Amino acid sequence: MEVKLENLSKHFGKVKAVNNFSFHINDGEFVALLGPSGCGKTTTLLMIAGIYKPTTGNIYFGNNVVNEVPPKDRNIGMVFQSYALYPHMTVLDNNGRCWSSGKRKRYLASTYPGY
Ligand SMILES: Nc1ncnc2c1ncn2[C@@H]1O[C@H](COP(=O)(O)OP(=O)(O)OP(=O)(O)O)[C@@H](O)[C@H]1O
Ligand SMILES: [Mg+2]
Repeated sequence: MEVKLENLSKHFGKVKAVNNFSFHINDGEFVALLGPSGCGKTTTLLMIAGIYKPTTGNIYFGNNVVNEVPPKDRNIGMVFQSYALYPHMTVLDNNGRCWSSGKRKRYLASTYPGY
Protein backbone atom coordinates (compact mmCIF):
# COMPACT_ATOMS: atom_id res chain seq x y z
CA MET A 1 0.00 0.00 0.00
CA GLU A 2 1.31 3.43 -0.84
CA VAL A 3 1.77 6.07 1.83
CA LYS A 4 1.47 9.74 1.00
CA LEU A 5 2.16 12.77 3.17
CA GLU A 6 0.57 15.97 1.94
CA ASN A 7 1.71 19.33 3.34
CA LEU A 8 2.19 17.78 6.76
CA SER A 9 3.05 20.00 9.73
CA LYS A 10 3.38 19.46 13.45
CA HIS A 11 3.86 22.48 15.67
CA PHE A 12 4.49 22.42 19.41
CA GLY A 13 3.70 26.00 20.37
CA LYS A 14 6.29 28.09 18.53
CA VAL A 15 8.41 25.04 17.62
CA LYS A 16 7.78 23.90 14.05
CA ALA A 17 8.91 20.28 14.44
CA VAL A 18 7.65 19.45 10.92
CA ASN A 19 6.68 22.20 8.51
CA ASN A 20 4.76 21.60 5.28
CA PHE A 21 6.37 18.26 4.43
CA SER A 22 5.18 16.18 1.47
CA PHE A 23 6.34 12.85 0.12
CA HIS A 24 5.09 9.69 -1.51
CA ILE A 25 6.17 6.11 -0.75
CA ASN A 26 5.17 3.50 -3.29
CA ASP A 27 3.93 0.05 -2.29
CA GLY A 28 6.87 -2.13 -1.20
CA GLU A 29 9.37 0.70 -1.24
CA PHE A 30 12.02 0.86 1.50
CA VAL A 31 12.56 4.45 2.62
CA ALA A 32 14.98 6.07 5.06
CA LEU A 33 14.62 9.65 6.30
CA LEU A 34 18.01 11.24 6.83
CA GLY A 35 18.64 14.65 8.35
CA PRO A 36 20.28 16.54 11.18
CA SER A 37 19.17 16.07 14.77
CA GLY A 38 15.93 17.96 15.42
CA CYS A 39 14.84 18.24 11.78
CA GLY A 40 11.60 16.32 12.45
CA LYS A 41 12.23 12.70 11.46
CA THR A 42 10.78 11.09 14.59
CA THR A 43 7.85 13.52 14.69
CA THR A 44 7.03 12.54 11.09
CA LEU A 45 7.12 8.82 11.96
CA LEU A 46 4.95 9.40 15.03
CA MET A 47 2.35 11.10 12.83
CA ILE A 48 2.40 8.20 10.33
CA ALA A 49 1.95 5.76 13.23
CA GLY A 50 -0.93 7.87 14.56
CA ILE A 51 0.66 8.75 17.90
CA TYR A 52 0.81 12.46 17.04
CA LYS A 53 -2.02 14.18 15.21
CA PRO A 54 -0.82 16.56 12.47
CA THR A 55 -1.32 20.28 13.08
CA THR A 56 -2.10 20.60 9.36
CA GLY A 57 -1.94 18.36 6.30
CA ASN A 58 -3.05 14.85 5.44
CA ILE A 59 -1.66 11.32 5.67
CA TYR A 60 -2.95 8.85 3.08
CA PHE A 61 -2.72 5.06 3.11
CA GLY A 62 -3.71 4.29 -0.46
CA ASN A 63 -6.59 6.62 -1.29
CA ASN A 64 -7.76 6.98 2.30
CA VAL A 65 -6.95 9.86 4.63
CA VAL A 66 -6.02 8.23 7.94
CA ASN A 67 -5.58 11.36 10.10
CA GLU A 68 -8.43 10.25 12.38
CA VAL A 69 -7.60 6.51 12.40
CA PRO A 70 -6.26 5.46 15.84
CA PRO A 71 -2.78 3.85 16.02
CA LYS A 72 -4.20 0.40 16.79
CA ASP A 73 -6.13 0.38 13.52
CA ARG A 74 -3.29 1.55 11.23
CA ASN A 75 -1.39 -1.76 10.97
CA ILE A 76 1.83 0.09 11.68
CA GLY A 77 4.66 -1.16 13.87
CA MET A 78 7.17 1.27 15.30
CA VAL A 79 10.58 0.62 16.82
CA PHE A 80 11.43 3.51 19.08
CA GLN A 81 14.66 5.37 19.58
CA SER A 82 17.82 4.00 21.21
CA TYR A 83 16.49 3.36 24.71
CA ALA A 84 13.97 0.85 23.39
CA LEU A 85 16.34 -1.07 21.10
CA TYR A 86 18.10 -4.30 22.03
CA PRO A 87 21.81 -3.40 21.81
CA HIS A 88 22.95 -7.01 21.38
CA MET A 89 20.69 -7.49 18.32
CA THR A 90 21.13 -6.36 14.75
CA VAL A 91 18.99 -3.63 13.14
CA LEU A 92 17.13 -6.37 11.27
CA ASP A 93 16.47 -8.36 14.46
CA ASN A 94 15.28 -5.25 16.28
CA ASN A 95 12.90 -4.49 13.43
CA GLY A 96 11.83 -8.12 13.22
CA ARG A 97 10.07 -7.66 16.54
CA CYS A 98 7.36 -5.77 14.65
CA TRP A 99 6.35 -8.72 12.50
CA SER A 100 3.39 -10.58 13.89
CA SER A 101 2.34 -14.14 13.20
CA GLY A 102 2.31 -14.37 9.43
CA LYS A 103 0.66 -10.98 8.98
CA ARG A 104 2.76 -8.42 7.21
CA LYS A 105 2.85 -5.02 8.86
CA ARG A 106 4.14 -1.73 7.61
CA TYR A 107 6.80 -0.71 10.05
CA LEU A 108 8.81 2.30 11.00
CA ALA A 109 12.06 2.61 12.87
CA SER A 110 13.33 5.65 14.69
CA THR A 111 16.97 5.03 15.46
CA TYR A 112 19.72 6.78 17.40
CA PRO A 113 19.48 10.53 17.94
CA GLY A 114 21.40 12.43 15.30
CA TYR A 115 21.44 9.55 12.84
N1 LIG B 1 6.72 16.73 22.23
C1 LIG B 1 7.45 17.78 21.85
N2 LIG B 1 7.26 19.00 22.38
C2 LIG B 1 7.98 20.08 21.98
N3 LIG B 1 8.93 20.04 21.03
C3 LIG B 1 9.16 18.85 20.46
C4 LIG B 1 8.44 17.66 20.82
N4 LIG B 1 8.89 16.61 20.07
C5 LIG B 1 9.84 17.14 19.30
N5 LIG B 1 10.00 18.45 19.51
C6 LIG B 1 10.94 19.35 18.82
O1 LIG B 1 10.65 19.21 17.44
C7 LIG B 1 11.86 19.20 16.66
C8 LIG B 1 11.96 17.90 15.89
O2 LIG B 1 12.19 16.80 16.80
P1 LIG B 1 12.36 15.30 16.30
O3 LIG B 1 12.50 14.48 17.53
O4 LIG B 1 11.24 14.96 15.37
O5 LIG B 1 13.72 15.37 15.50
P2 LIG B 1 14.60 14.20 14.86
O6 LIG B 1 14.86 14.57 13.44
O7 LIG B 1 13.94 12.87 15.11
O8 LIG B 1 15.96 14.32 15.70
P3 LIG B 1 17.02 13.18 16.13
O9 LIG B 1 17.88 12.93 14.92
O10 LIG B 1 17.79 13.83 17.25
O11 LIG B 1 16.27 11.95 16.58
C9 LIG B 1 12.99 19.42 17.68
O12 LIG B 1 13.27 20.80 17.73
C10 LIG B 1 12.39 18.94 18.99
O13 LIG B 1 13.00 19.59 20.09
MG1 LIG C 1 14.56 11.12 16.12
